[in-house]
Amino acid sequence: MSITASPPAVRSIYLPRSPCGTPRVRMTVRSNAVTVVPILTKLQKDCATPLPVLRHVADAMAADMRAGLAVDGGSDLKMILSYVDSLPTGNEKGLFYALDLGGTNFRVLRVQLGGKDERVVATEFEQMSIPQELMFGTSEELFDFIASGLAKFAQEEGGKFHLPHGRKREIGFTFSFPVKQTSIDSGILMKWTKGFAVSGTAGRDVVACLNEAMERLGLDMRVSALVNDTVGTLAGARYWDDDVMVAVILGTGTNACYVERTDAIPKLQGQNSTSGRTIINTEWGAFSNGLPLTEFDRDMDAKSVNPGEQIFEKTISGMYLGEIVRRVLLKMAEAGALFGESVPENLCTPFVLRTPDISAMQQDTSQDLEAVESILYNVAGVKSNLSMRKIIMDVCDTIVKRGGRLAGAGIVGILQKMEEDSKGLIFGKRTVVAMDGGLYEHYPQYRRYLQDAVTELLGWEISKNVVIEHSKDGSGIGAALLAATNSQYEHDF
Ligand code: BGC
Repeated sequence: MSITASPPAVRSIYLPRSPCGTPRVRMTVRSNAVTVVPILTKLQKDCATPLPVLRHVADAMAADMRAGLAVDGGSDLKMILSYVDSLPTGNEKGLFYALDLGGTNFRVLRVQLGGKDERVVATEFEQMSIPQELMFGTSEELFDFIASGLAKFAQEEGGKFHLPHGRKREIGFTFSFPVKQTSIDSGILMKWTKGFAVSGTAGRDVVACLNEAMERLGLDMRVSALVNDTVGTLAGARYWDDDVMVAVILGTGTNACYVERTDAIPKLQGQNSTSGRTIINTEWGAFSNGLPLTEFDRDMDAKSVNPGEQIFEKTISGMYLGEIVRRVLLKMAEAGALFGESVPENLCTPFVLRTPDISAMQQDTSQDLEAVESILYNVAGVKSNLSMRKIIMDVCDTIVKRGGRLAGAGIVGILQKMEEDSKGLIFGKRTVVAMDGGLYEHYPQYRRYLQDAVTELLGWEISKNVVIEHSKDGSGIGAALLAATNSQYEHDF
């Protein structure tokens, strides 16, 4: 990092006037750049993820997985049974719908499946954003909104899509929040995550909530599979590639699922599936063991709608990276006069700096960091010179590096646990980890840091066999495929 600090003019000043309500403090400073450096240095130190830290995280992830499989509530990781015991084979046929609620958008999709030869004959989807007020409204309001989006979409069916006479349209419902599944087509919402705080859903069967909303609208469709987005992604990726064993979402939130042996799940108490395998939804966003956290993470958590929860998610996922950077910049502005005499007012607004903004800044390779300059100005109303912009880039890099590397360590934890239980299952052959989510898709630095951590932890020889692969929007088709596998109608696959 290079800082073009002016000659150290030691003077006694009041720190910048902050519009965020932080009291003004009198202290001796040299120049803005110089006082910012210790904040950056401490941040880098607190966020550091050298190999021993990564190793500890991977080991702790594996240990927490075992504890969560032993007994419900045994660890931070819920290790939820998905009731998905058989994965798509490629033979699935017919028209199926998928409904995907998991973040700021919700998607509806239909797919006409043509079996082994024709595979995906046709697919159509639509995406709608969830109005902000619905994230804090009532359960009825949210599910009515979803059901009416689905009804509108279903009305437009035609062309290559065909439903045999006398059948109901079947839906694979991807609901990407912690749900305690009670069967393949029912499950109780344990809690909301990702900033949702809808009243009246936690503790209820979310399929019943959707069914009631569909009834209110007179929409006659049937949910035949309720799945988490990780499970949908695994199913969707497995449809094309038999070596897929793990799926990870890195988007607004984060989570991972994997294929587990039923005899390695003590809490199943001997209830074996016919395949001897099942998919476990880890809900790894709740992991918290041994993470390198900072004062900024702790403050953000304390002010969140779910304090003390989803700590891994708050450290590595897309909803939070931009917000952590904003908090660091605010401290640099208030305590280090990063932006001179005053603190830019917009910087006081939580979540004003989004992860896509910091990603866009990190893609700027111009000498003057012109894109960084305009993003800072447009998003946060911040006027900056080159030395400030370089510091800001270092802050982004520090937070993103920690996130990507910890995500990589989490993946290794899962692979390690699988390998420990069945020698050679993972490390002796090609193994695919299917990845999806906007953060993974759109943030090349994050992806690189993740891959680096996996390679560092596994070593070159083993990591050559571990293929971390983007499976774009696999979860929609995956949910539709699982609706097909669990169809109430006779099928010839
Ligand atoms: C939810 C998971 C979900 C993940 C990714 C988390 O906040 O708890 O169920 O899979 O986000 O969407």
